[in-house]
Amino acid sequence: MVQKRSSKQHIELTETFGAHNYAPLEVVLSRGEGAWVWDVEGKRYLDMLSAYSALNFGHCHPRIQKTAHAQLDLLTLTSRAFYNDTLGVMCEKLATLCGMEQVLLMNSGAEAVETAIKMARRWGYREKGIPRDKAEIICFSNNFHGRTTTIVGMSTSESSRADFGPFTPGFVVVPFNDKAALDAAITRNTCAVLIEPIQGEAGIIIPDSGFLSHVRAVCTGHNALMIADEIQTGLCRTGKIFACNHEAVIPDAYLLGKSLGGGITPISAVVSSRSVMQVFTPGSHGSTFGGNPLACAVAETVLDLIIEERPHERAAKLGAWFVEELRGLNSPYISAVRGRGLLIGVDILPEYGKAKDFCHALLDVGLLCKDTREQTIRFAPPLIISEEDLRWALERIALVFARKDKVSRAGQPCNI
Ligand SMILES: Cc1ncc(COP(=O)(O)O)c(C=O)c1O
Repeated sequence: MVQKRSSKQHIELTETFGAHNYAPLEVVLSRGEGAWVWDVEGKRYLDMLSAYSALNFGHCHPRIQKTAHAQLDLLTLTSRAFYNDTLGVMCEKLATLCGMEQVLLMNSGAEAVETAIKMARRWGYREKGIPRDKAEIICFSNNFHGRTTTIVGMSTSESSRADFGPFTPGFVVVPFNDKAALDAAITRNTCAVLIEPIQGEAGIIIPDSGFLSHVRAVCTGHNALMIADEIQTGLCRTGKIFACNHEAVIPDAYLLGKSLGGGITPISAVVSSRSVMQVFTPGSHGSTFGGNPLACAVAETVLDLIIEERPHERAAKLGAWFVEELRGLNSPYISAVRGRGLLIGVDILPEYGKAKDFCHALLDVGLLCKDTREQTIRFAPPLIISEEDLRWALERIALVFARKDKVSRAGQPCNI
């Protein structure tokens, strides 16, 4: 018999037996449907984070669930020692959606980034003629590309890096959104520029118009690959299928993850041209679970939903309206609101506390949100969220942001 435990007991168990590599808000979820989730005591919350965009289609989407259930009864794992009847079909659909030619499947976003680093280096040596072990990859300040030792080595966040060195060499960090710095950093040994077209974890930082086009032009001019990390921004979140589409920029490779797995299975992908992808030969890269039938079947349904329902158009419309409404609150706590589609950042003035304090207050009124960096709240609800539910969210947000006296500076939950 399954023992029923309270939220408090679950938190105690998690903190006692789980490593403390996260600091979750104190809510214990046990059920989800669409944009809504319920805690173990049955209280309902609106999910305004959607697992950092992994739940673009919400919780337990009926069509994605149906595919997963059916595939669970057929075949779930083959390894890549054999072919399976889901991988090729999914890769064709994904390559077509991206306007690219070939796909390499992994599991987590970080693995897609690692794959792209290997791809770019090998391409640099074999195709561009960079001298052995001299390849450089340019990345940007405040980047977030994942948590492996190589990836945190290119991070500029001290909490991500501290005491995890020594780090992998071969990365050059330049300020984000700085054309001149990029121009100065690129050399004949540059094999790639790795960029988030909108920096998510950094606080929804949108580059100036023209920056992505400049990156594209510089890469083309110096025969370097432009690699767009769209793990968070891709697949409709920002109001276009890819955030690069906002400047009509076509990178040499897209990195995708998160929502490709429909909120069910981890799956990530590098999508590029045949001429670049051919640097991978049997034995040079792989993953036991990469391209497994369950993940591929789920991802194929996700791609069908994108093609049929065009969720980026909803994201663009709802996001523009939501940003205007947030600005219209004229809250004394807020210094800036910015967003593209349904990826929205709200900056909190430091004198009123940290973004996390406000996330506690929002939790109290039924909204699940998360701070990113100290002063920014990220709103990234599922793209299937209804206008009515967003209005409900706005009412709650207005309550929290209008009542100066109620938010605790010590980060304690308040009761509005
Ligand atoms: C832009 C970007 N790249 C890579 C990653 C890493 O993905 P994962 O956590 O699946 O390894 C993330 C995760 O937040 C991300 O936002």
